[in-house]
Amino acid sequence: MKVLLVGGGGREHALAWALSGSPLLSKLWCAPGNPGIAALAECVDIGAEDVDALVAFAQRQAVDLVVAGPEAPLTLGLADACAAAGLRCFGPSAAAAKLEGSKAFTREVATAAGVPGAEWAQFTDPAAARAYVRQKGAPIVVKADGLAAGKGVVVAETVEEAENAIGAIMENRVHGAAGATVLIEECLIGQEVSFFALCDGEVALPMVAAQDHKRVGDGDTGPNTGGMGAYSPPPAFTRDIEAQVMERIIRPTLAEMARRGTPFRGVLFAGLMLTEQGPKLIEFNVRFGDPECQVLMLRLRSDLLAALRAACDGTLQQAELRWSPEAAMVVVMAARGYPGAYRKGSVIEGLEQAAQVPAAQLFQAGTARGENGALVAAGGRVLGVAASGETLQAARDAAYRAVDAVRWPDGFCRRDIGWRAL
Ligand code: AMP
Ligand code: GLY
Repeated sequence: MKVLLVGGGGREHALAWALSGSPLLSKLWCAPGNPGIAALAECVDIGAEDVDALVAFAQRQAVDLVVAGPEAPLTLGLADACAAAGLRCFGPSAAAAKLEGSKAFTREVATAAGVPGAEWAQFTDPAAARAYVRQKGAPIVVKADGLAAGKGVVVAETVEEAENAIGAIMENRVHGAAGATVLIEECLIGQEVSFFALCDGEVALPMVAAQDHKRVGDGDTGPNTGGMGAYSPPPAFTRDIEAQVMERIIRPTLAEMARRGTPFRGVLFAGLMLTEQGPKLIEFNVRFGDPECQVLMLRLRSDLLAALRAACDGTLQQAELRWSPEAAMVVVMAARGYPGAYRKGSVIEGLEQAAQVPAAQLFQAGTARGENGALVAAGGRVLGVAASGETLQAARDAAYRAVDAVRWPDGFCRRDIGWRAL
């Protein structure tokens, strides 16, 4: 099969790595890709959000499958445009991608499907939102409705903090139009896990869970990021919990989306809180998590390409996924200053030595080739240094050994990935 992978981060490097191992693969392109992906795929200079150019390229090359990494092209209608052009696309239609694009939509679907989650209300009037917050008290969660690059959520410890968040989101529009509507949610207490299920519109196949580390600093301190590290499996996510999540959250959502005439095909990423009353939904995403995808791909033992094709063709019922019982961990190396302002262009060395650490696997995210072909930092999250191991501790030891082999003075990482489980 000829495959066009869309995106250029650590998630896409991990997907490219897994797809490369498929006996079904004859040719892999990646748009736009990155220097790490370039070792596995032919990188094409088309932006991940340039839907028209992506579809034109896929048609010209008679691609058998387009795989969307990030959510942006999906919310822009990549899957719809592929369908119209007679191309297979792994990823939901724009209508189904609303599960990530609008938090209010997700809450409506989840409520209709009877999915357990936080008590919530939505507001377009800041005064009404403030009154509700005062009535409910803290802690309480304030969210911009639309896409805000993962930064539109404030878990407020006090009523004052919540009211300030309402002002920033709705009145000062710090996230732009995404703040026209806010959601106010009950604050769920428990361990947070990411769970992934492959969906073909009707059938959902469980993948595995991972735990992300969203705060920038050790001990879960500092501002939220896209994710500073992840591991799988999280010991708290038992078989029994997985069964509950499939029965109460994933399958009812899939059924509700189908009933609405907008069936969900692709990977459904459920952000869950494991509360004392059982697993509850925090949010959905319509793509693999990053960095979670990196540990998922390290643990996947069956053919990713065959599974993605089955999800597109509506044949997941006959498909299977096999997973290594081993643990995997990824430590994200980011540019100093991230998630605030950071410098680009600093040189990264030592990747060859890092890759030689047994069981380690390096994925590149925000990297580019600088002058003389040197590898340089070109984004906030720059490297995913991953490893597998018989135990989580072994995976962690290998991952940090590889981190320590990377020579990049401008970079930093958290030193405590996996702390909850270790
Ligand atoms: P979201 O963008 O919806 O994933 O929210 C970002 C982060 O805020 C989540 O990963 C949680 O850590 C936290 N969060 C969101 N909603 C809630 C909630 N209702 N209760 C507790 N924490 C939440
Ligand atoms: N790591 C969280 C996300 O991909 O949204």
